[in-house]
Amino acid sequence: MRSAKYSGPGSAAEVISISEVEIPVAGPGEVLVKVGAVGLNPVDVKIRAAATDFGPIRYTDHPGWDVAGVVSDVGDDAGEWAPGDRVFALAAFPDAAHTLAEYAVVRARDLAAAPASWSIAQAGAAPLAALTAWQALDVAEVRSGQRVLVLGGAGGVGHLAVQLAKARGAEVIATARPGKQELLRSWGADTVIDYRDEAALAGIERVDAVLITVDDTLPPRGAVADGTAVVTITGLADAQRAQLAGWGADPVTRILVAANGAQLTEIAALADAGELTVHLDAEYGLDDLVAAHERVETGRVTGKVAVIVDADV
Ligand SMILES: NC(=O)c1ccc[n+]([C@@H]2O[C@H](COP(=O)([O-])OP(=O)(O)OC[C@H]3O[C@@H](n4cnc5c(N)ncnc54)[C@H](OP(=O)(O)O)[C@@H]3O)[C@@H](O)[C@H]2O)c1
Repeated sequence: MRSAKYSGPGSAAEVISISEVEIPVAGPGEVLVKVGAVGLNPVDVKIRAAATDFGPIRYTDHPGWDVAGVVSDVGDDAGEWAPGDRVFALAAFPDAAHTLAEYAVVRARDLAAAPASWSIAQAGAAPLAALTAWQALDVAEVRSGQRVLVLGGAGGVGHLAVQLAKARGAEVIATARPGKQELLRSWGADTVIDYRDEAALAGIERVDAVLITVDDTLPPRGAVADGTAVVTITGLADAQRAQLAGWGADPVTRILVAANGAQLTEIAALADAGELTVHLDAEYGLDDLVAAHERVETGRVTGKVAVIVDADV
């Protein structure tokens, strides 16, 4: 089968190739998926560029974590999955997986039935970002009636966090450039603020929870007080954490997303209830994987980038 391969650290153009490898075999507790589409995330490009583990995130030269496709075969003790099932998953993360290929072995517990209302490209693009947003909102204990600030509302994680926070009944304030603000409103954001507009940022009053999805970005001073929950998916310096504590925030929690098929099942239910969509910034073929990496590396992606491995799946 055809599979993406990295040849070591370097730029996308230097190290990405497509090679022929054996179709893998599903072992106990595993499922073989005929791959339709795979999401590309910032972690994919960071780990390709460095060709090394990042803490618990495992580097592999046969990459890919997101996946959507159709079950082709099942190993022993793989639950109720059967050939022909349309599925999606964040495979094994933060352990290594190998989904950027025509077939992928996925742990049965990482799989969920793909939303019937999403294209295979949307389902393949969503899992890592959607689970990150879901798990961040869980940690912040976001619930109905709360005010939530999403810093970076247009990105892969941010655009799903806006929608998932709305689905939990929160009032959502999010930051984005003016050109992306209509989209954010269509995803349910109640207030959208240009992240370069200092006066507008300063006008945000206390929120119950902040989700930080942009590197080196603190919420505005006025948004944080009296036990505001702050969850970040990117790094924060000790001084920034101390500053937030001084403003009255609870201790900042940094999360690392984990594969979770049960949560993807809940996410799929919201999708099919019309409460969650995946905005596709762009779709690329497997042969255009270099261009897909370069698009994600711009940091300007709106929603998600999908790699279409087989459009007929
Ligand atoms: N901890 C975890 O488990 C976890 C999971 C997923 C992702 N992450 C990390 O979280 C970060 C975000 O991931 P992602 O997939 O959402 O990234 P992404 O899709 O690449 O985010 C790009 C978006 O960020 C927006 N943006 C850039 N600077 C901004 C700013 N100052 N304020 C508001 N928006 C801004 C961009 O809008 P403009 O074009 O307007 O600039 C663009 O729409 C990455 O560093 C990623 O590695 C961590």
